[in-house]
Amino acid sequence: MFGGRYYIETYGCQMNEHDSQKMSALLEELGMTEAASADQADVVVINTCSVREKPEHKVYSALGTLKAAKTRNPAMVTVVAGCVAQQERDKLLKRVSHLDIVLGTHAIGELPALVGRVRETGERISCTDFRGEVSSLHMHAPIGGEARICSYVTIMQGCSNFCSYCVVPFTRGPEMSRPERDVIDEVRGIVAQGGKEVTLLGQNVNAYGKDLEQGPSFSHLLRQLDRIEGLRRVRFTTSHPKDFDEGLASAMADMASVCEHIHLPLQSGADNVLRAMKRSYDYAAYREKVRLLRQKVPGVAITADMIVGFPGESEADFQQTLAALEEIRFDQIFSFKFSPRPGTDASRLPDQVPEDVKIARLARVHQIQEAITSGYHLAAEGTTAEVLVEEIKQQTGQARGRTRTNKVVNLGASEGILPGDLVRVEIVRGLKHSLLGKKAD
Ligand code: SAH
Ligand code: SF4
Ligand code: F3S
Repeated sequence: MFGGRYYIETYGCQMNEHDSQKMSALLEELGMTEAASADQADVVVINTCSVREKPEHKVYSALGTLKAAKTRNPAMVTVVAGCVAQQERDKLLKRVSHLDIVLGTHAIGELPALVGRVRETGERISCTDFRGEVSSLHMHAPIGGEARICSYVTIMQGCSNFCSYCVVPFTRGPEMSRPERDVIDEVRGIVAQGGKEVTLLGQNVNAYGKDLEQGPSFSHLLRQLDRIEGLRRVRFTTSHPKDFDEGLASAMADMASVCEHIHLPLQSGADNVLRAMKRSYDYAAYREKVRLLRQKVPGVAITADMIVGFPGESEADFQQTLAALEEIRFDQIFSFKFSPRPGTDASRLPDQVPEDVKIARLARVHQIQEAITSGYHLAAEGTTAEVLVEEIKQQTGQARGRTRTNKVVNLGASEGILPGDLVRVEIVRGLKHSLLGKKAD
């Protein structure tokens, strides 16, 4: 038992959020409690992301701030975890003198032992080897003891796609599926403690099982989970268009628990850019998958990621991205300026697009998508939807939850509504980023 206080700062995607949840659970098992800020903590973890330059920079400024706290309290143990840790490895120890531990993406479970070692010996440690199997830590169920209404469940780790712009295969290692039995057991555990919704996590969840011998398919996993009594909603992210097939569309149509939402990153509307990105589909194939999905799952919400300013992207290529947004009409997108990442093929390509062009293109994407998203929100006015209530806001007493299509709904008057309730809601107003609703009679 350590006692004392810990603080975790998290950047990046849901994988990192989930890893941070696991790290807090591990530290709490040692009797530690959460501190309100880094300078009040005995163990500080910065869980980092290196998918683009911007989140990576944030890490160095967070480390800068930590220096003063560590100078005041030299007994403090400082940890950098996540994708920057994995990418930089022991170089980080050399660069940052007030850093004690570099914790790679496969080493989350080692955190308590490493903190113990640092305290005993004063060593500085880098632990960044890839393991040959999905960490058994993923079997902790549920994390933190107390039930969460909505939980993440890792079903695979890593990625073997090597899209030419992306660091993730380098920072998370090769694609590895977790055995189906373990996933089912974890979800059962979550439901037994009152959990209502799970989000299955992986970089490419619809490739689930392809790396296992006689592995189950992703649709098979969804069917098994759908049988768990009390589990009301299953979500999953991220899906890769190349592995999206009719089986998944049918599973989404047939399974009562599987929500009508898919995040299916398109990245670009131009075939030459998609080829240079090594995405292994073209725009026509993507559009056909969307057509099939919308036919099988009426009302399905489709969201995507888009990159502007990939090396060599011409104005004509970019126009095809805009045309794709207009044609597909995504419910929501996350769009990014291309950012060259160390070690990736795209960072070495000629014809890098100037920053001012990237900024202008991103603004045009935002403008078009905002109009489309607002259109969906306005069209929802007067309809009813099922909302799973996730929290009651302390200040206003308003309930906040999401529809099955993953749209955020705030409920004006919320008397008698509790977190975890599934409520029929009438949408009274469509706002820019969310919906306003009231309990339907
Ligand atoms: N596994 C997921 C995405 C992981 S990264 C998938 O394949 O869809 C999340 C998003 O970040 C990507 O979809 C992409 O749009 C964006 N991204 C990744 N690398 C990037 C880079 N170098 N520059 C800009 N955006 C990038
Ligand atoms: Fe990155 Fe491509 Fe893997 Fe997604 S599928 S994590 S974009 S390499
Ligand atoms: Fe970032 Fe690593 Fe996730 S690079 S997006 S934290 S997998």
